[in-house]
Amino acid sequence: MPEDQHGEKGFGTAAQADEWDARYGEREGARWSGRPNGRLRVEAAGLTPGRALDVGCGEGADAIWLARNGWTVTAIDISEVAVGRARAAAELAGAAVEWICGDVLQMAFPTGSFALVSMQYPALPKAAGEVAVRTLLDTVRPGGLLLAVYHDLDDEHREHMKSRGVDPADYVDADDLRQLLGDDFTVELDTVEPRIDPPPDTPHIADVVLRARRR
Ligand SMILES: C[S@@+](CC[C@H](N)C(=O)[O-])C[C@H]1O[C@@H](n2cnc3c(N)ncnc32)[C@H](O)[C@@H]1O
Repeated sequence: MPEDQHGEKGFGTAAQADEWDARYGEREGARWSGRPNGRLRVEAAGLTPGRALDVGCGEGADAIWLARNGWTVTAIDISEVAVGRARAAAELAGAAVEWICGDVLQMAFPTGSFALVSMQYPALPKAAGEVAVRTLLDTVRPGGLLLAVYHDLDDEHREHMKSRGVDPADYVDADDLRQLLGDDFTVELDTVEPRIDPPPDTPHIADVVLRARRR
């Protein structure tokens, strides 16, 4: 697989996988809280379970929560370390999830296969191109939901991230997604709100929430 599969050095699948593996590998234990994201819990609570895709599932708390609440879940993450932890957590929880270690922007999930596509704080490089992101959006079935949640970053936080070598501008954000939804989706919720049940000590206390229903 070429290093610059997404067209720019550093944003290829292999480079992103290495970067995320290194981030997860910084700690022996879990990097995230191990709790499902509050916004997902609130939004999914009112839905009839069906097939769900968890994009950038990390250590698996959301996918496990969805599976335990009746969903048939496919969960994908580019980091082998994260997926390994997610599998182990699912085994402990007795939850059945289809775990995939891979680049979601290189996957060919069939169009219209998911009743819910959940993207909780995704970090998808813009360098992958719009077609790849559109292909991902196309996996939402007619009548199904896309739920994308991002950290609401102020200038200070953006600068802090840049100083650590990560420029948020290089990643697909809610504005980019909104543009790509086009006429295929009805946007039901597009807002910045306090984060629901944030983990203790997180600096991220507000979410950008985009909920859109496929026509
Ligand atoms: C900020 S973390 C969020 C993890 C999880 N959704 C959560 O809320 O705890 C972003 C995740 O996206 C994964 N990721 C980044 N690029 C990806 C890609 N192209 N395909 C699949 N997963 C990706 C990373 O490995 C990381 O686990």
